[in-house]
Amino acid sequence: MAIFVNEKTGLFQIITDNTEYQMKADKYGVLKHLWYGEKTGYDMEYLQNYPDVGFSGNIYDAGNDRTYSLDTLPLEYACEGVGDYRITGISAVHSDGSCALDLRYKGYRISRGKYGINGLPAVYADENESETLEIILRDKYSNIEVTLRYGVLPKLDIITRCVSIANNGNVPVILTKAASLCLDIAYGEWEWMHFHGRHTMERVTERSPLIHGIQESSSKRGTSSHHQNPSVLLCSPDCTETSGSCIGAVLAYSGSFKTQIELDQQEQVRLVMGINPELFRWELKPSEVFDTPEVIMSYSANGMEKLSHNFHKVIREHVCRGKYKLAKRPVLINNWEATYFDFNEEKILGIAEQAAALGVDMLVLDDGWFGKRNDDCSGLGDWFVNEEKLCGGLGSLSKKLNEMGMKFGLWFEPEMISEDSELYRTHPEWAIRIPSRDPIRSRYQLVLDMTNPDVREYLFESMSNILKSADISYIKWDMNRSICDWYTPCLSAENQGEMPHRYVLGLYELLEQLTTAFPNVLFEGCSGGGGRFDAGMLYYCPQIWCSDDTDAYERTKIQYGTSFFYPISAVGSHVSAVPNHQTGRITPIETRAVTAMAGSFGYELDLNTLSNEEKQEVSEQIVRFKKYSELIHNGLYYRLSDPINGKFAVWEFVSEDKNEALVHGVIFQTEPNRTQYRIKLRGLLPEADYRLEENGEIYKGRALMNGGILLPKSWGDNFPVQMHFTAEA
Ligand code: GLA
Repeated sequence: MAIFVNEKTGLFQIITDNTEYQMKADKYGVLKHLWYGEKTGYDMEYLQNYPDVGFSGNIYDAGNDRTYSLDTLPLEYACEGVGDYRITGISAVHSDGSCALDLRYKGYRISRGKYGINGLPAVYADENESETLEIILRDKYSNIEVTLRYGVLPKLDIITRCVSIANNGNVPVILTKAASLCLDIAYGEWEWMHFHGRHTMERVTERSPLIHGIQESSSKRGTSSHHQNPSVLLCSPDCTETSGSCIGAVLAYSGSFKTQIELDQQEQVRLVMGINPELFRWELKPSEVFDTPEVIMSYSANGMEKLSHNFHKVIREHVCRGKYKLAKRPVLINNWEATYFDFNEEKILGIAEQAAALGVDMLVLDDGWFGKRNDDCSGLGDWFVNEEKLCGGLGSLSKKLNEMGMKFGLWFEPEMISEDSELYRTHPEWAIRIPSRDPIRSRYQLVLDMTNPDVREYLFESMSNILKSADISYIKWDMNRSICDWYTPCLSAENQGEMPHRYVLGLYELLEQLTTAFPNVLFEGCSGGGGRFDAGMLYYCPQIWCSDDTDAYERTKIQYGTSFFYPISAVGSHVSAVPNHQTGRITPIETRAVTAMAGSFGYELDLNTLSNEEKQEVSEQIVRFKKYSELIHNGLYYRLSDPINGKFAVWEFVSEDKNEALVHGVIFQTEPNRTQYRIKLRGLLPEADYRLEENGEIYKGRALMNGGILLPKSWGDNFPVQMHFTAEA
């Protein structure tokens, strides 16, 4: 049991293995937030403070009690328009134009298992490993009923939250904000860390003290975006990888989002996260229900590493689905950086033949195989094979690949349309645009209206036909622009504000249909690299191409930021050619390999262009990745250094039984005349003796963790590190 209710005091406790969450419905029916942190086993209401604060109003039922104010109390789900002037979780406009919701406690339900959300991704878990708490709140004036849902996975220290809003009144209501999470923290000092970036430099970590007022990270791009990730970390100023308090929250949503944090007049912190209200306006008719996406939360009293472990486990085992969720992923070769659009069957088979000889499992044919797609100006939407490039079609290509012992994968960009395409000529009305205006192009392309069921049906049919036409084991689902020109003929003028969220619902519906119809296909997400790297997409695609930046040096930073919340198995990562196509940097092939091994591994170059020694290295790397892939994907991941500010990037994978550890890394620059760098390992058995495979030496676990190990002496820039330790029996 993880959920406890004290009917007398109104206290709700959610207790996981190492954390506790508390809230309480008070005498006015206001649901107050009391605690999220380490286990206390004690009603934490005694910490609440009721000062008489000027200009903080009082609810009417508190009479002349000037000390009871929604503006200063920690609340569970704050509402707009009722005297709480901080950021709120929900905002609604009533039929008379007024905007207030006064949500008071109505009741609760507890059930075994984890709730699901209609049409949206959500953590799933068996009945014996999860519970659900629902707290129902009601605005008596409008009869709007809000159900706060809490999913609990006690062993993983995970609590999820989402909200259902029901209109039980008899007139429509317009929702203008419906956050998934509103979390008040009335104690302690906090900093925040978020993950920002751009195309080819995603999820750069930034940690800052909170300023009084509101700070936010958000996307208005229609996707979760390269520029900000829908994940956030609040931590105590002394929080490190291994010590200090931190709270993490990840929104399982792939559209525009907003994360806001407010440090208020009383030094209290409020975190609000959900669909971006700037692009949201939803008409809720009588008897209708609106479900928000889900936020996944965890708390750690022992630093960020434990928090990351909790998130890696929940996302890998309880968000990702399908045949490949825990299965070994094929080592693949992708032709994009090898050929770009300039290929034919012969060239592809030439690349595949060499790759097969070196041990690669699958060839992925990237952009350019369909329609009239010879550059990025045309063809999107025409999901039929370009027979000029592939004269025998996909069936013949896949057959020839199969004969080499290779599987076949294919790139799609389903949500897009080129103006120069058969599809656009037939259905110009399927492209998103505002009728009276010229649309905004990006990468020369327009976006398909995913809110339109005809569009989804076309995509399902055309993609299914391709999938049935050949032996296809993998789909790379790309999405290469941000969205604007929000307008759809499928909605009335007043309801255009629903389109951005309905786009995401349409996308999820299509993904659900295709992944169900083709359960043996491995789906990889992509959006110009990692522009839609979020827990929503991971529900459908167990891996996502992490970045279009394949430079090993920069990848150490991108993958470092990605690792705070997302599991290693979710990270698509490839060895590419040098000089690198994005940066011109030359790094050793072993450096590129150890970096790419922190993910779902592959190659993205023409292996025929390598020297014989390099080919030898490639075939050894593939054997090595296959040997360690279980440890890499299922083991615990440790960030041993900070590559953003440090001189090297070093990380470690440790098996659950702690008998095996693999240390990988990159020393950025070699400096002459200096002692070797030292790095402390983590997560080992203190008393065990570990043999280091590379030199045969034996080291005590306690020594490796407290004193560390010398990193190899480096030579040149971006020098690779690999050390494999096994405990002696
Ligand atoms: C995006 C992807 C690349 C590649 C190209 C093809 O940029 O991230 O990996 O597939 O599109 O156009």
